Amino acid sequence: MRLNRKLFWTLPILAPIALLGILPAGGQGMGGMGGMGMGHGSMGMDRAAPPAGADGPAAVGLPEALESRVMELAPGGLLQLEARPVAKDLAGNRVRMFGFNGQIPGPLLKVKQGSRLPVEFTNRLDLPTTVHWHGIRLENRFDGVPGLTQPPIRPGESYRYELRFPDAGLFWYHPHLREDMTQELGLYGAILVVPEGPPSLAPVDQEVVLFLDDIRTQRGGLEPFSREQVRYTLSGRFGNRFLLNGATDYRLQARPGEVLRFYLINSANTRTFSLSFEGARMKLVGADAGLYGRESFVPQVLLGPAERAVVDVLFEQAGTYRLLQTTPHGSTPLGTVAVAGPPADGRAAAGFFRLQEHPDAELEALRAEAGRAPDVSLALAVEAFGMGGGLGPGMGMMGTAEGGLEPIEWEEDPMMAMMNASSTKANVRWLLRDRSTGRAGPDLLYPVAAGEVRKIRLFNDPSSAHPMQHPIHLHGQRFLVAARNGVEEANPVWKDTALVPAGETVDILVRFSEPGDWLLHCHISEHLEAGMEAAFRVTP
Ligand code: C2O
Ligand code: CU
Repeated sequence: MRLNRKLFWTLPILAPIALLGILPAGGQGMGGMGGMGMGHGSMGMDRAAPPAGADGPAAVGLPEALESRVMELAPGGLLQLEARPVAKDLAGNRVRMFGFNGQIPGPLLKVKQGSRLPVEFTNRLDLPTTVHWHGIRLENRFDGVPGLTQPPIRPGESYRYELRFPDAGLFWYHPHLREDMTQELGLYGAILVVPEGPPSLAPVDQEVVLFLDDIRTQRGGLEPFSREQVRYTLSGRFGNRFLLNGATDYRLQARPGEVLRFYLINSANTRTFSLSFEGARMKLVGADAGLYGRESFVPQVLLGPAERAVVDVLFEQAGTYRLLQTTPHGSTPLGTVAVAGPPADGRAAAGFFRLQEHPDAELEALRAEAGRAPDVSLALAVEAFGMGGGLGPGMGMMGTAEGGLEPIEWEEDPMMAMMNASSTKANVRWLLRDRSTGRAGPDLLYPVAAGEVRKIRLFNDPSSAHPMQHPIHLHGQRFLVAARNGVEEANPVWKDTALVPAGETVDILVRFSEPGDWLLHCHISEHLEAGMEAAFRVTP
């Protein structure tokens, strides 16, 4: 892929592809209950194969997708993991999707902090892939980045990953090749790393891992993906149906007085979630790779693609509670929690109102470096070519009803939908551009020694041709957000992905630990495909 990307930069700008007939079908608004998300993409391989995500005949004869199962992995075990096509019932249509071990989401891996886990992965798809273990500080050669840390795993081939889990927290795994298609089609799973020592969180009645996602359907099934072409590179592929754990009709049951701990993961290609439980109190306790220094009550939780949150929610009374996606444009129900039956014993509810502290010496030591000048300063930028008159400055302003800058593109803007649908890698390039050298592109590589601290400034230029948020992810390390727009972050937490809304400047602080080449990229799948990446080379 590395090679392909380099090649891409030298190619002449291609004419916009003919798009007639593949524009998104209308009529399926986000308004309904439930939702699902899938991904798609194309690798330019295997042209004879049916398009991934196609419904109808392509799904015939495939095993039915299973629900995610918990795998408690004891030391000494080996995980056999495979990616393969499955059939799934999606809002009344039988569609072809992908599953890890036949499951959507993939198996939930429950492991102990400090443990190791060998994984024998087999690719039973009809296109090459890899597995990336998002947020895990592992050896570089197991990071799953094609062309950087390993060759792509071809259909029928296997690859052995050796995982280790130095940090407790909520992580996940997904492909790192055409994830705009393959992750969207169901290849995502969670890893819950349980802390060593006594639990530091209050007891709860239930624990629930919940993937927040969306998927793009059209009459009769999924909107097909192209294997030759990544589409929707401008804003990303927005779904028109929400999916919670792969389901359009997500439902959960609880008893009155129960506290549920939700482990939330945004696995959407591009959608930002702002989640709440209508009528229930929510306590934010953790994020990507650890616990907050101070727990807090929050009205909703904001998650860009790949970000995670751990929240405790108290369901005091019997009734039906809706999970809501709430944006400045309104609220949409995503699923429900039905609360009924005999009341819970109240022990968890008693602990719910205590706001605990979770001091972390390493995090505080890193935080002490917050005053340093940025070592690396990157602008998040776009270049567009040959798109029906082009994307001039100001075009981005079309993204808002009021004509002002909208920090987050919550929905695909109807005004930009045609342009988004006709955007590809050939006519849109997303960049991380070094602000001191002007350099950008896949060769942007920063050397750093293990143990050294870097402050990385991420500037999301509001005058960009298409201002929108970018969730920026650094592989193989953990960081903290030191400041947003120059204002120090009051309650930092270990992160590996930071959402940078349009117009904002976010400073992250990293003490690099794992040697190797580590990607820094936007986690909007289509933006990564369109070049929005750089890398850090960590020497021992
Ligand atoms: Cu979750 Cu480079 O990815
Ligand atoms: Cu982006």
